[in-house]
Amino acid sequence: MNLLEEKVAVVTGAGSGIGRQTAKTFADNGASVVVADIDTDGGQAAVESIVDAGGEATFVETDISSPDDAQAMIETAVDEYGGLDVLYNNAAIEGPVARLDEYENDAFEQVIEVNLKGVWYGLKYGIQAMLEDGGGSIISASSIGGEVAVPQYSGYGAAKAAVSQLTKYAAIEYADDDIRANAIAPGIVRTEMIERSIEDHPEMEEQFLNTEPMPGLADPEEIANAVLFLGSDLSSRVTGVTLPVEGGYLAQ
Ligand SMILES: NC(=O)c1ccc[n+]([C@@H]2O[C@H](COP(=O)([O-])OP(=O)(O)OC[C@H]3O[C@@H](n4cnc5c(N)ncnc54)[C@H](O)[C@@H]3O)[C@@H](O)[C@H]2O)c1
Repeated sequence: MNLLEEKVAVVTGAGSGIGRQTAKTFADNGASVVVADIDTDGGQAAVESIVDAGGEATFVETDISSPDDAQAMIETAVDEYGGLDVLYNNAAIEGPVARLDEYENDAFEQVIEVNLKGVWYGLKYGIQAMLEDGGGSIISASSIGGEVAVPQYSGYGAAKAAVSQLTKYAAIEYADDDIRANAIAPGIVRTEMIERSIEDHPEMEEQFLNTEPMPGLADPEEIANAVLFLGSDLSSRVTGVTLPVEGGYLAQ
């Protein structure tokens, strides 16, 4: 399929997991992709695998919690590829696993910096570029933890709930400008983020495996395909939603 033929896309946190797979899926569908990540090795490896498969991609080292970096990331898309059509605000950190009274203040601030402010900077500078360029589609990563409370993830869940709300604001404010904004709420996806949690808290593996009504964990590709739908014209009348991709978890 070539759902993003001649489109320019930016994916944050594209050096690992869902972001990396989404960058690949976008490139496989014809997009030129700006791979943005704080992790240079992961970002460069993501670009290499896209280019090796005949796609077009460039890496820009980005700490998405820095407004200057976020702006430079968007400028890379405009300077290298002539504009911005699709932005996936994917980068996030999981933060600590702790009940509220034991959640460190610094850790809470860091989760908000990356998971909420990072998405806000992406929206702000991405929308500025799209206003110049005749519109586009923005997808931001929320989570089931932004829809319902998942114990011991208060900072992460609060940031994700705010991402879904920011998405509604962006959708409404720019509906007239051909800019769509949606979010995605994955359940449990087999990535480094989940592997780290299992390594630190082995008891969580069983819990993760039994979270979704559908068996097992999601594959990053299953999330990337949903992001592709929201990023492409297949979803031309969809804006302001948070799309669950969680094996039926929220239907319970
Ligand atoms: N894996 C899951 O089960 C799951 C479930 C629900 C939602 N999500 C969301 O999906 C998104 C991707 O998660 P993943 O599982 O692929 O995670 P991951 O840890 O595998 O990848 C996250 C990437 O973001 C990058 N990153 C971290 N901080 C950054 C910063 N300040 N600036 C730029 N890049 C930064 C990391 O270097 C990494 O490459 C996240 O928003 C996450 O919250 C994941």
